[in-house]
Amino acid sequence: MKITYYGQNSLAIQVSGMNILVDPFISGNPLSKDKVDILSLKADYILLTHAHQDHILDAEAIAKNTGATIISNWEIATHYQEKGIEVHPMNLGGCWQFDFGNLKYVNAIHSSSFPDGSYGGNPGGFVIEGEHKNIYIAGDTALMMDMKLIPLTTKLDLAILPIGDNFTMGIDDAILASDFVQCDKVLGVHYDTFGYIEIDHEAAKKKFYDAGKDLMLLEIGSSIEL
Ligand code: NI
Ligand code: MN
Repeated sequence: MKITYYGQNSLAIQVSGMNILVDPFISGNPLSKDKVDILSLKADYILLTHAHQDHILDAEAIAKNTGATIISNWEIATHYQEKGIEVHPMNLGGCWQFDFGNLKYVNAIHSSSFPDGSYGGNPGGFVIEGEHKNIYIAGDTALMMDMKLIPLTTKLDLAILPIGDNFTMGIDDAILASDFVQCDKVLGVHYDTFGYIEIDHEAAKKKFYDAGKDLMLLEIGSSIEL
């Protein structure tokens, strides 16, 4: 499994020969818009955690360019189906066996309106069990007790957690989230994009290190292999 970071909560995941994009927000992200051409991105599937602009902005253009299937909650899936895009609707607690692995749509504590204010269903995160590696993409969320449910069914190899604070968990709660999901290897996301969520990278890494954990912060466009 290869995971590439495109800023905010945008990720590309290569698994079992399939290309998955998560929350593509690139053309409007000052940190990534000049580094990544959205029309060069490959996608068989696009996973959307919730309907906020900093998660869905480029989903329609990429889906139309690639023919990718959008996977999200019922309300977001229906929104894109009406635009002629292939979708797979899910809802909280549900699993589906895709050709890239098993996917579960799990709870997040946040909000999920579309940019025009229309209803975007409940926000969520994803647990992917694929190719002997399991990952948790928390999406935008507060620290929550429901995170403790994840290790009851899945032994995680990586937790992808928001760390930017203000709109989501910050560093200290992300360390607790790492305890809750029983995974000490964390990829930080949802930081530095706007003034509200700028962080001190070294201080964040040190806090994780002091807690016996590993926080990875990737440059835009760089990857890790699991
Ligand atoms: Ni959000
Ligand atoms: Mn967000």
